[in-house]
Amino acid sequence: MRWRWRQRHRYCSVILFLTALVIAGGLVFQGHWPSQNSQEPQTMTTISNSTLMNLIKLKELEESPTPGTSHEDYAILQQQLENFLNISSDEEMTVARILKDEPYKYIHNEPSACLLQAPFLVLLIAVEPKKTDARDAIRKTWANESVAGGLGFVRLFFLGVNQDTQRNHSELQHTIEEESHRYHDIIQQNYRDSYNNLTLKTLMGMYWITKYCPEAKYVMKTDSDMFVNTEYLIEKLLKPKGELTQKYFTGLRMSDYSPNRNKESKWYMPPEVYPGNRYPTFCSGTGYVFSGDVAQRIYVASLTIPRLHLEDVYVGLCLAKLKIEPAPPPNNLLFNHWRVSYSSCRYQNLITSHGFHPNELIQYWQHLQSNKHNLCQTSG
Ligand SMILES: *[C@@H]1O[C@H](CO)[C@@H](O)[C@H](O)[C@H]1NC(C)=O
Ligand SMILES: *[C@@H]1O[C@H](CO)[C@@H](O)[C@H](O)[C@H]1NC(C)=O
Ligand SMILES: *[C@@H]1O[C@H](CO)[C@@H](O)[C@H](O)[C@H]1NC(C)=O
Ligand SMILES: *[C@@H]1O[C@H](CO)[C@@H](O)[C@H](O)[C@H]1NC(C)=O
Ligand SMILES: *[C@@H]1O[C@H](CO)[C@@H](O)[C@H](O)[C@H]1NC(C)=O
Repeated sequence: MRWRWRQRHRYCSVILFLTALVIAGGLVFQGHWPSQNSQEPQTMTTISNSTLMNLIKLKELEESPTPGTSHEDYAILQQQLENFLNISSDEEMTVARILKDEPYKYIHNEPSACLLQAPFLVLLIAVEPKKTDARDAIRKTWANESVAGGLGFVRLFFLGVNQDTQRNHSELQHTIEEESHRYHDIIQQNYRDSYNNLTLKTLMGMYWITKYCPEAKYVMKTDSDMFVNTEYLIEKLLKPKGELTQKYFTGLRMSDYSPNRNKESKWYMPPEVYPGNRYPTFCSGTGYVFSGDVAQRIYVASLTIPRLHLEDVYVGLCLAKLKIEPAPPPNNLLFNHWRVSYSSCRYQNLITSHGFHPNELIQYWQHLQSNKHNLCQTSG
């Protein structure tokens, strides 16, 4: 069985590699290769050179064995995963085709957000279309361009569409258009924006990084009701790691979680969708951070993994397939998926806290800014 798995895996790698070559051939043949500025047609020529190079690198990486975890639990988990990931080779064949297409049409996009300078950090913020207030509060607070000046970051909100945006002469869509025009931070695509589509939204973020920002050093995926201490994240967590880190993924780690089989629950997972009795370690979707290379790895892995609606669990499955173990953060107070009670000292030394109204966000932020030079006891 293991042998077949490997065979199939190799087969898949080869398909990916061949597709990369075919695309490369197409690019060269059509003379599109170096002309970054030409209008991008909606065909296979839209994959950039760097994406292609990364794909080839990825293929090479897949062939070299990763040193790794070798305990028995892992073997059992791996077996369950293999069963779960056992999909027909027909499906694998479509992988190559999907990769070259734009998955969903862009209504608003910022294709040149990373053109001038590869950003140190990209903030991918999942937000519902109607949450204009949340976007405004985030722009004024933790994702304001003036925060952590020096090592630049790029702020991007990910939105889909719904009845409110698609209505004729939609006021909401008009507002989004204005926001996009003014701030250049909206990525809106033509998929249904719903809770059960959060996995899709995240994957669109991974795809966006792969295609438009493959040189990003780090990426954070987070939500619109979060408090994020961007300064701590950049200065204390990421900067000391340096710029060359690869296969890095961290956040609030959820280990040994079993699927919720209670139909009433928001986190219900039908056994016919995920039969295993354990999830691999995943990081809470409220905020996780990874090195830029991981975006593409996850996107490519996702093409052969059935989509589950629980976004963070799903990303965990992709990581398991990639054999990337989420790293523990330097301390357990940094990432929180609940609301940490406020004190300026506590908030100076954490990265995420959950459950904020836009007004509260602004209030807390202002308080933190005017008190951040106060001394805190290190035990904090
Ligand atoms: C994959 O699934 C097929 C049936 O869909 C089954 O016959 C085969 O044994 C499975 N392979 C593995 C490796 O589990
Ligand atoms: C494509 O990217 C690779 C690696 O970054 C580079 O060596 C090569 O010259 C590039 N090709 C073109 C045509 O820009
Ligand atoms: C960022 O903060 C500055 C200073 O507080 C403010 O003038 C600016 O409007 C903010 N940017 C956005 C996009 O809200
Ligand atoms: C919106 O307008 C177009 C033509 O202007 C029409 O075809 C369409 O049915 C309208 N949609 C709704 C939801 O009213
Ligand atoms: C997710 O979006 C796709 C594309 O718009 C749509 O077909 C699908 O029904 C949506 N799924 C959910 C659960 O909303």
